[in-house]
Amino acid sequence: MDERVVTNKELQEDTFEKSIRPDSIDEYIGQSEIKENLIVFIKAAKLREEPLDHVLLYGPPGLGKTTLAYIIANELGTNIKTASGPAIEKTGDLAAILSTLEPGDVLFIDEIHRIPRYIEEVLYSAMEDFTLDIIVGSESSSRSIKIDLPPFTLVGATTRTGDLTSPLRDRFGIIAKLNYYTVDELAQIAKRTSRVLNTPIEDDAAVELAKRSRGTPRITNRLFKRVRDYALVMGNGVIDKEITTMALGKLIFYV
Ligand SMILES: Nc1ncnc2c1ncn2[C@@H]1O[C@H](COP(=O)(O)OP(=O)(O)OP(=O)(O)O)[C@@H](O)[C@H]1O
Ligand SMILES: [Mg+2]
Repeated sequence: MDERVVTNKELQEDTFEKSIRPDSIDEYIGQSEIKENLIVFIKAAKLREEPLDHVLLYGPPGLGKTTLAYIIANELGTNIKTASGPAIEKTGDLAAILSTLEPGDVLFIDEIHRIPRYIEEVLYSAMEDFTLDIIVGSESSSRSIKIDLPPFTLVGATTRTGDLTSPLRDRFGIIAKLNYYTVDELAQIAKRTSRVLNTPIEDDAAVELAKRSRGTPRITNRLFKRVRDYALVMGNGVIDKEITTMALGKLIFYV
């Protein structure tokens, strides 16, 4: 298959997800314990004028880890720089990302369990003392150099905390496990998406969507998108229960 086609499709999906991502903690539905804690930690960090402790977010795909990472940066009022574990192949890749950080920034590393082990070790000193210890030069003339980094907050996301080495896990001050959402929470997410996309959804239809979402907001939003098409073409644009049940009945292959 043409790789560009895949990429375009992923980009489309990505743009859709970004457009409906809540960007403040108040708009983030559910995960109330995590939210309550984060609000306190973020406030305390701001009062102390120190960076927030490093945060590890873990839980199944589509539960809102990336969304929460962006919210943390927004609430701190800082920039967010993003990287992905599998894309960091050389120590230099990590050094390049770290060198773009400004004081207080959030560095978000997605799929952090996929960083190669020898690069992970470079991350330890960056997380602990905000220094970068790297070896430069060729084998015969190699030397180690130490570079000071600005204080920053690492937010790591992983779907599998078991794959994380314990030295890395131990360097996170805040570890949050995201749980599956209740039907009620997912219905609220569907209602929120309906406001953002300007497509009305009736309450009982939102509950119907929620029930089919396997506890996962990403699935709620995907189903929403499809049901919205049925409402537009076969109804009057409003997502009601009848359209929803009919559309969901046809979507057996979709998710
Ligand atoms: N608590 C929430 N409130 C409202 N919308 C949410 C919430 N959590 C997730 N979403 C929505 O679900 C979608 C998927 O969330 P996100 O991309 O943050 O998941 P993830 O945990 O990073 O998934 P992955 O493990 O695949 O990277 C986003 O478009 C976001 O809008
Ligand atoms: Mg993500």
